[in-house]
This record gives sequence, structure tokens and C-alpha cells, in this order.
Amino acid sequence: MDLFTTPASLRTQCRQWREQGQSIALVPTMGFLHDGHMSLIDHARACADKLVVSVFVNPTQFGPNEDLDRYPRDLPRDLALAEAHGADAVFAPEAGAMYQPDHATWVEVPEMAKGLCGASRPVHFRGVCTVVLKLLNLVQPKVAVFGQKDWQQLAILRRMARDLDLDAELMGMPIFREPDGLAMSSRNVYLTPDERSRVPAIRQGLLLAQRRVAAGERDAEALALMFREHLADTLPDARVDYASFAHPESLAPVARIDAPTLLAVAVFIGKVRLIDNILLEV
Ligand code: PAF
Repeated sequence: MDLFTTPASLRTQCRQWREQGQSIALVPTMGFLHDGHMSLIDHARACADKLVVSVFVNPTQFGPNEDLDRYPRDLPRDLALAEAHGADAVFAPEAGAMYQPDHATWVEVPEMAKGLCGASRPVHFRGVCTVVLKLLNLVQPKVAVFGQKDWQQLAILRRMARDLDLDAELMGMPIFREPDGLAMSSRNVYLTPDERSRVPAIRQGLLLAQRRVAAGERDAEALALMFREHLADTLPDARVDYASFAHPESLAPVARIDAPTLLAVAVFIGKVRLIDNILLEV
């Protein structure tokens, strides 16, 4: 496995592979790899001849008061894991290699980025779209694989790929969960042992909503209230950032659950913001 730290060296290697007729799969990550990432990497490994994993804590998707500086990092461990799971290359640039001091070009899908996480993270999806487009341009993969925990991210990236005629297929893999239901996330390491033992309540709240829908409840507001009450009972120190219902592709707000609907939530526990979601079928 090779480590690339500059865009030019990665682009040269990927171009060479493509000229040899080899297809490439890309798994973009911010590192501190966990089993959820591994499920993406394993899936991508089977999709193409060559596998590139990017490990880049992208500064442009963090707001001024967010956790860029303390975001967990462990490149040696990430390299070992990527290699053990069959990656041919890891791309781990410094921020300065990805963004010129006078970087001035941004990719945005504003309509889809204004709700859900975008409401409290106004620059987040602009940073995500810009860096993912840069990675797709460098690698020119046949397929790029993302996790469905960040459902809004994937929906926005798919719209970007469609609107800009990108060649790569953007695949979404199911959320990978701890045995107690907590969605895997690099940020879970921020939780204290006490918080960690209680946050599975978030997933239980989503499942409760699913059961209410199965029992006939169709009103999104009533379901959101139920989710908030469930958390107030089980995680009284948590603050719900949002519990919102949206069309799974367009992310347009949904008031009545008459078709498959995304229920997406973000919850602060202490300083940690956790997200999760469920696709409600009727
Ligand atoms: O989902 C993530 O880890 C990041 O948002 C991504 C897609 C790697 C872009 O920095």
C-alpha cells in the first residue's frame, strides 16, 4: 500500500491505473477509522480493481466554534487498518496541500443544505461538497462509498454529482452500529463512560417512532414530540438540535408520513453532537 500526501502524486498514480484499464473505488474519510469505515472499505474493495482511502480532516467543513482542533486523529493506526483491509493507496494530505492560501472556489447545493444539520452548521456542506469534488477529480473513481449515517451529506453529494455530470457512482452503505444500537462515529470517543452508557436512547427513540408509524401515526409533528419526550425521559441532560422529517432524496420537509420518509436527528450530550436517522416505511 502506498501513502500519498500531495494531490499531484495521487492524481498521477490514479491516472496510471486508469490507463492500465484498472477501475478505482474511493472511500473518503476524515480518519480515526472505526468498524463503520471498515464496512465501507470492505464494500469498496469488492467494487473495483484498486482501492483508495482518503484520510483528511477537512477544515472547510468545520464552523468557527466546532471541533476541528480536537477532532480525533491517528494516522499510523488508520494506515495499518486500511492496509489490512486491502487498500492500495491512502491519501492523507495536509490542509495546505488541499487548499491554496487564496482558495476561492466553492461547490454548494444551498436548497438541500439549509435544513437538518445545515441549520446549525451553515458552512458544513459547502466544505463537504468542495472537498469531495476535489477528491473525485483527483481519483476519478468508478465508485465512491459513503455511510448513510450522514444521510443529508450523501443526498447532497448525489445531487451535486447529478447536476455536475460526474461519472462516479456514489454508493451509500447502511449505518454500522455498536451492539447496543449507537451509530458508530469517530466522535463517540468524546463521550464520558456515563454518557456512552445512556446514548443508545437516541436509536431507541428512532425505533419508537418507527413502531408508532407502523401502528398508524402519520403526523410528523406528533412523532417529533414523541421523540423529544422519549429523550427528555431517558437522557434528560441531552439537547435535541433537531428531530426532522424529510423526503429521503430531495430532503424537502415532510409533514405527513404517507411515503418512505427520513427521520433524522441530531442530539447534543455535553459538548458532543451525535446524529442518527431512520428511513420510515409506511
Ligand atoms: O463523512 C465524512 O467523513 C466527511 O464529511 C467526508 C465525506 C470525508 C468529507 O470530508
